[in-house]
Amino acid sequence: MCGIVGAASLRNVTPILLEGLKRLEYRGYDSAGIAVALAGQLQRERETGKVAELEAKLARREVKGQLGIAHTRWATHGKPSRYNAHPHMSNASVAVVHNGIIENHESLRSSLQQQGYTFHSETDTEVIAHLFDHHYRQAEAPDAEQRLLSAFRTTLSFLHGAYALGIIHIEHPESLLCARMGSPLVIGEGSEEHFIASDPLALLQVTDRFIYLEEGDHALVTRDACRIYEALGSDPRAEQARQSMPMTTTGQPAGSDPKAVLEWSEVQRPVVRYEHGDQVADKGEYRHFMLKEIHEQPRALKATLEGKVSDEGRLLTSILGPGADALLASVKQVQIVSCGTSYHAGLVARYWLEGLAGLPCAVEIASEFRYRHVVVPEGTLFVTISQSGETADTLAALRFAKTAGYLATLAICNVPGSSLVRESDLRLLTNAGPEIGVASTKAFTTQLAALLWLSVALGRERLGEERVASLMSDLAALPEQVERVLDLEPTIEALAARFASKHHTLFLGRGPHYPVAMEGALKLKEISYIHAEAYAAGELKHGPLALVDDDMPVVTVAPSDELLEKLKSNLQEVRARGGQLINFVCEHAGLEDGEGVHNLLLPKVADEVAPIVYSVPLQLLSYHVALVKGTDVDKPRNLAKSVTVE
Ligand code: G6P
Repeated sequence: MCGIVGAASLRNVTPILLEGLKRLEYRGYDSAGIAVALAGQLQRERETGKVAELEAKLARREVKGQLGIAHTRWATHGKPSRYNAHPHMSNASVAVVHNGIIENHESLRSSLQQQGYTFHSETDTEVIAHLFDHHYRQAEAPDAEQRLLSAFRTTLSFLHGAYALGIIHIEHPESLLCARMGSPLVIGEGSEEHFIASDPLALLQVTDRFIYLEEGDHALVTRDACRIYEALGSDPRAEQARQSMPMTTTGQPAGSDPKAVLEWSEVQRPVVRYEHGDQVADKGEYRHFMLKEIHEQPRALKATLEGKVSDEGRLLTSILGPGADALLASVKQVQIVSCGTSYHAGLVARYWLEGLAGLPCAVEIASEFRYRHVVVPEGTLFVTISQSGETADTLAALRFAKTAGYLATLAICNVPGSSLVRESDLRLLTNAGPEIGVASTKAFTTQLAALLWLSVALGRERLGEERVASLMSDLAALPEQVERVLDLEPTIEALAARFASKHHTLFLGRGPHYPVAMEGALKLKEISYIHAEAYAAGELKHGPLALVDDDMPVVTVAPSDELLEKLKSNLQEVRARGGQLINFVCEHAGLEDGEGVHNLLLPKVADEVAPIVYSVPLQLLSYHVALVKGTDVDKPRNLAKSVTVE
């Protein structure tokens, strides 16, 4: 999704901005741009395609200065093109970069057009530039800085929707304005320089000290200082929650009226040190971040479990936050809400929460949940799962849930400072370290490990000490078991060639391995662009069998569990129609290779942890199929790592 970088410094900021954009490339984008203030002029360059193309353009035309903003765009309003790329400008004096969606942009656009503004793009963002220009011209204030802030605040009051913003003005060559509402933004603190970015990863080459803006904050950033203001008299999160409410018959408000007039007060936000080191620039010995992250899983799983179990095997539930113990004891059911791969983690967890904790559990995609008229059963714990903690739909669902009568909210997340973590009552961090590849791998398996731990924590009375201890030792054995599966990579690589000429693939699983199959199918389509669908194997006869012929690879996830015999019958049905079976199967399952049947043997592991272990070979399969197909593994077309707009 769109990425923002900005800098105010004594040195030339162009290289800092370009490096920042490169570091945001993993989020997904289709064009990039930069605007820098120098000698009473705003210089702007924009280009479609990769940041390297913008860089090449900048090498031909010197664009430098001590204040600037830059952007990678992921098209929402208007196709990917140079004229739709950010920064957007107004009257050559204002430049704006924006992440998010301005929902009332149409009404703002027509009122600005009536006032004589000409639009040069199809974007929602351009209204912000003209609106700011308009209010700056009208603003009356005792000094230049007050005038700038006053114009900014009035502009913000007209915006409905989500935004992270960076704005510079020609008359203020040392001032960088920024604001956040619904899309993430951090301020980076350097030595006599300050930066802004959508993600700390963009700035690790210049600082490791960050201030996370809260919802509704805006700030004036210069090289020497940053002054942050919060809104008083109205809770900006309530505004966000209001926007996430299910539609009423009268529809959503989205006019060109300003929001209620707000008062502002300067506020101190903590400076947080980024402690993961700078892993962004470093693929190590690996060809792609995705492969690196697949191989990091043993370490990541270990890190996820660290600090969650005492030496005596006791579950340390206090890490979830204050009052967690009492709260867990009063949970009667669980509602999980998430998106993409994180949604698949939730689907697997349902089997654990029901089977181990004995709790009813519902799992839903956030974009659906947030617009439903939900009925909340008493004692329901609301759990969100998210790698980034910034996914717009998941965040909106959380904000809605906080008004809907849930017992408490719990975020399972990989990013400690993220909005989801900060806004939830309880938090369970996965500690996988930064994940750069768009296709999620280590984030998924660590989410699963965290969810299994949580299920045991919720069910510990019911399970008894001995069973809890045995489940914890199954979890502790995971890093080594995953290591053994990673050793199978050469065999999986050889299998990948079979997919190169295929257009469709079917994935089958049963029980918790049905969502594992769903995740396998998602991985394959994300990075190799082969159409892949997952089915619960028992559904085969209800439709997908019609697709099976000798050109159809069918991938099955077949651990040695109570459903294995039933799955074997489903495999017979596929073979009888000529389907090519590729089975990820337990070495004790008793399946044999034969014509059209290829078994990849996996170690026997405890039933509860099998979904985690069996996810790994499916990741490797997708990776190697993508390599054969020559696709952009880490940055698949049209996709974004962090989906910060609805
Ligand atoms: C995007 C990413 C996926 C991710 C999903 C949810 O689609 O490409 O890998 O699973 O967003 O993201 P989250 O950060 O909330 O887990």
